[in-house]
Amino acid sequence: MSKIALVTGSSRGIGRAIAIRLAKDDIVVAVHYGSNKAAAEETVKMIEDGGGQAFALRADLSSVSAIHSLFDELDVELKRRTGETRFDILVNNAAAPGFGRIEMTSPEDFDRQFAVDVRAPFLVTQLALERLRDDGRIINISSGLAVRPSPQAAAYSMAKAAINAFTVLLAMQLGPRRITGEL
Ligand SMILES: NC(=O)c1ccc[n+]([C@@H]2O[C@H](COP(=O)([O-])OP(=O)(O)OC[C@H]3O[C@@H](n4cnc5c(N)ncnc54)[C@H](OP(=O)(O)O)[C@@H]3O)[C@@H](O)[C@H]2O)c1
Repeated sequence: MSKIALVTGSSRGIGRAIAIRLAKDDIVVAVHYGSNKAAAEETVKMIEDGGGQAFALRADLSSVSAIHSLFDELDVELKRRTGETRFDILVNNAAAPGFGRIEMTSPEDFDRQFAVDVRAPFLVTQLALERLRDDGRIINISSGLAVRPSPQAAAYSMAKAAINAFTVLLAMQLGPRRITGEL
């Protein structure tokens, strides 16, 4: 049976490239997107045109309830395809655009950055853990700014530093399940 991956934010950019690459290895890809359905459907079509399998799922990752709905929909799709709700690879790729320097970042901007870039990967991983097969993979897309923060991207740099810490703690916790992860 083909492995299955969930790639957040794979309607465009790096997430799309990851989704297409995974599909080339015969992995079925759940192409998650936030708002641009047409772009997500284009990613699915690019995968299908290359002989792979994919399906699109929408969720605004700034919303806790939308993240729960994402997994409800994923469960339905996984059951339909495999008879169970297990999958193999999670790529936490989606991120909000940076809001700039500290003096330009409102409390609302800061909260949005951390909701999408930190809380969402945390909650998505929490919900994925009971579904991921042992020997699975969790890949968190970070940034060089996590270790060399930029004043031009204050909240974004801080959020990516949190992702680095999250990745290390997941590796420590999930090693016994042979779930490996990368930054
Ligand atoms: N590009 C770079 O130079 C660079 C460098 C270092 C690290 N990174 C990291 O690499 C990853 C991908 O970057 P990228 O430049 O390829 O991103 P991008 O082109 O801006 O695409 C972002 C993706 O995330 C989704 N997204 C954004 N906000 C969302 C939200 N609130 N809810 C749900 N989905 C949301 C978007 O979906 P919709 O369009 O449908 O909303 C889109 O699919 C990010 O983690 C980024 O921090 C990028």
